[in-house]
Amino acid sequence: MSTQETAGPWGQFPSTRLRRNRRHGWSRRLVAESSLSASDLIWPLFVQEGESAAVEIGSMPGVYRLSIDQAVAQIGDAVELGISAIALFPATPAKLKTPDALEATNPDNLICRAIREVKRAYGDAIGVVADVALDPYSSHGQDGLVKNGYVVNDETIEVLITQAIIQADAGCDIIAPSDMMDGRIGAIRKGLDKAGHHPVQLMAYAAKYASAFYGPFRDAVGSSGNLGSGDKRTYQMNPANSDEALREVALDLAEGADMVMVKPGMPYLDIVARVKSTFAAPTFAYQVSGEYAMLTAAAANGWLDREAVMLESLLAFKRAGADAILTYFALEAARALRG
Ligand code: PBG
Repeated sequence: MSTQETAGPWGQFPSTRLRRNRRHGWSRRLVAESSLSASDLIWPLFVQEGESAAVEIGSMPGVYRLSIDQAVAQIGDAVELGISAIALFPATPAKLKTPDALEATNPDNLICRAIREVKRAYGDAIGVVADVALDPYSSHGQDGLVKNGYVVNDETIEVLITQAIIQADAGCDIIAPSDMMDGRIGAIRKGLDKAGHHPVQLMAYAAKYASAFYGPFRDAVGSSGNLGSGDKRTYQMNPANSDEALREVALDLAEGADMVMVKPGMPYLDIVARVKSTFAAPTFAYQVSGEYAMLTAAAANGWLDREAVMLESLLAFKRAGADAILTYFALEAARALRG
């Protein structure tokens, strides 16, 4: 048998030399299997009350809580850079947080005012995403209502439906349930449709893990103090599980999710790859606050090259199968990609 025959479809040295394709920049670009562009990015940003305010988040250097006017101004840069969408998160004043998270259903709350202002300024030039979950509004920091120490499912969903509808009324394009209650996608879809919002999309935080990587986000929205020593393990997924993620995604798609998301990102790329290859649905990943904090801290110490690890980490999401990435690096990455 000749060398060629034994080599099979994978080839064999020395006739096959994989370094040949890597020799020149143009050639590496030519054979690249994935690519990253500004249109793949969703920029999460935190809004707070006030005017002309920009307060840096201690555990996320370079990320600010912005008053609505400042947020609107900065979103102009995102539009200009070709970023597809932004995701707004409210830092609700502590005095408005209650056990029943009633502020979540106030049509004039911070998030609804922010949505209206962003839509008034930019229309359809950029998509607006808003979470549905109670943690920015609850005095206990949980994503749902608590009874006898347990986050109750079906009662929580009733509040989430109202929360989704008022955000859609304010002009939100994509409602993103991040609460992990069972059955909420179907219930919210039905509620939105009944309210005349059938064009409003649903991005399900479908495989959302009970992760320690959310710490800096909870500082940003001021919910870490509320949550205290509590955790979210009775509703967010166990990091040990992978098959269960497929069941979560299957249910959310069946209930009407337009896109599904995996969260956190980099430690869960195996989940992204499985979800994408199993369902072939729009699959998003969230590079969460703790991931941003890790890369930023290492770069600040001179241990990593900030721009290089930012772009490499984002490209890795694309390679794993993500169609879009929520990242606090969105603006910076879009600028770096523009060159
Ligand atoms: C709220 C929510 C969280 C994040 C997004 N939506 C925090 C949590 O579930 O505790 C985390 C995002 C991040 O860490 O960047 N339910």
